[in-house]
Amino acid sequence: MTIGVVIGESKPTEVTAQSSRPLSVGEYVIIDSQDGRLLGLVERSAVSSEALANVRNFDEAVESKEVAEINSRDKNYKVKIGILGFLDKLKKGHVTIPAVPPLPGTSILEATQEDLGMIFAPSGTEWTRVGSLLRNSEIESRINVNKIVSRHLAILAMTGMGKSNLVSLIAKHVASLNGTLVIFDYHNDYELLDVSKMNYMLAKINPRLLPADKLAEVIELRENADKQQRVLRESLTESVRQAKEFWASLEENVSSFGRMTKGYADSASRVLDKIDDAKHRFSDILDPDCGDPVDLIKEGRVNVLNIAELSERQANAGLAYYLQEILQHRKEAVWEKKGKSQRQGHKFLAPVFTIIEEAHVFIPKGEHTDTKYWASKVAREGRKFGMGLGVVSQRPRNIDPNVLSQMGSLAIMKIVQDDDQQQIASAAESLSKDLLSQLSSLNIGDAVLIGQWVNLPSIVHIDEVKTKRSGSDLDAVSEWIQADRFKGIAKESTQGFVQKDLLLD
Ligand SMILES: Nc1ncnc2c1ncn2[C@@H]1O[C@H](COP(=O)(O)OP(=O)(O)O)[C@@H](O)[C@H]1O
Ligand SMILES: [Mg+2]
Repeated sequence: MTIGVVIGESKPTEVTAQSSRPLSVGEYVIIDSQDGRLLGLVERSAVSSEALANVRNFDEAVESKEVAEINSRDKNYKVKIGILGFLDKLKKGHVTIPAVPPLPGTSILEATQEDLGMIFAPSGTEWTRVGSLLRNSEIESRINVNKIVSRHLAILAMTGMGKSNLVSLIAKHVASLNGTLVIFDYHNDYELLDVSKMNYMLAKINPRLLPADKLAEVIELRENADKQQRVLRESLTESVRQAKEFWASLEENVSSFGRMTKGYADSASRVLDKIDDAKHRFSDILDPDCGDPVDLIKEGRVNVLNIAELSERQANAGLAYYLQEILQHRKEAVWEKKGKSQRQGHKFLAPVFTIIEEAHVFIPKGEHTDTKYWASKVAREGRKFGMGLGVVSQRPRNIDPNVLSQMGSLAIMKIVQDDDQQQIASAAESLSKDLLSQLSSLNIGDAVLIGQWVNLPSIVHIDEVKTKRSGSDLDAVSEWIQADRFKGIAKESTQGFVQKDLLLD
């Protein structure tokens, strides 16, 4: 059906059209050009009325309104349409922009389900549904899972806009494919995730396996406490690592180093305090008898590693360890397949996808962290070894730009801060100015999908994962009402108690 006609000046990348009805920004249309059918995206849409254009006062406005209503030619619907490429090429995943601009007079047609379905919802096992197009809601939106495992993913948005919901959706799909997913869960958002193949656990750190400087971080020695650092370094000997009682043996070495080395008694006693403190405060996490923490990760499962109990420095050391080990296992698995590996019996024989929540904390801009070192390595080498990285953050401006620019696919939800938008724009070349300007007006669950996991940049509404209960905004008012009611009950019972006491007196 013809819904408009190209007017004015055309370019190979955009046309202006007069339409028969107001078109929505973000709506897809077909431009029936002389060289073939083109897919277009409505980028700007304006309506004006001849009669109501130069109104000077209220009475005139009322009269003009009546004139406008009876005159079918009064309204002017003008749209700017960006050209995305030839339709038949796009259906095959290729973007080809015409060399010659569409001629004025070219018809604009409504895009059919068939036209759009092949582009936004291709078939094949690697494509999975994440939602539907925001403006053409009858069209499914699917993403290519292979591309996120091989070329990485960033999910960026303000808090509460649906990042974790999208992660949950991806997790469900990975589970249905028997894939291995590792989510580093910093806010305990995924404990209630409803997938059959879930392996939920507290992240562990085995102090035996850490180099001395990492152990110093984990037990929270100050970085500039050089003497304490030295005490720990000298005390963490191979025999301590092998000892049956790791902590006792380490403490013994620290004490004797303090006694034997002139000027180190105070430092040693401080290190002992720190060890004692860490042993008690972090007994769930710092576990010398847990074996290799990587063995807790199960293949073919959605592994949720709760790192909520860890301090930032501990989480950092933990994450770096996991990333390093998984990458190493994957390398060896690939080498083994090629008959080049020395070691046998390693884990992770199939690709692994890892997701880091609060990525700006662990992969910060302008600052070294171990996690950042290993995440960059995974971003660079992951493709060769089948290890994907997903970074999730509400503060894109604070993520290391190098890592961000290596993320081959992006889901961006509502973001209003200008410097966040700029950072994303410089990391993702396919994010046009028009899409960028949409970001602040998106609603919860709406996302701009760009990069290799989609055939074309698109604005979609992500499906809600209904079963997930955590992560949603806390309902303070009803909790207060509840608490108040309990207070009443508590008061009554204590009053009863007091009175009984008085009676007894
Ligand atoms: N696609 C969606 N459709 C509808 N509601 C959503 C969607 N995504 C998220 N929500 C709602 O918003 C809340 C916060 O989402 P969440 O994914 O936890 O946000 P974030 O991780 O960005 O802070 C969810 O509990 C849910 O109620
Ligand atoms: Mg979240």
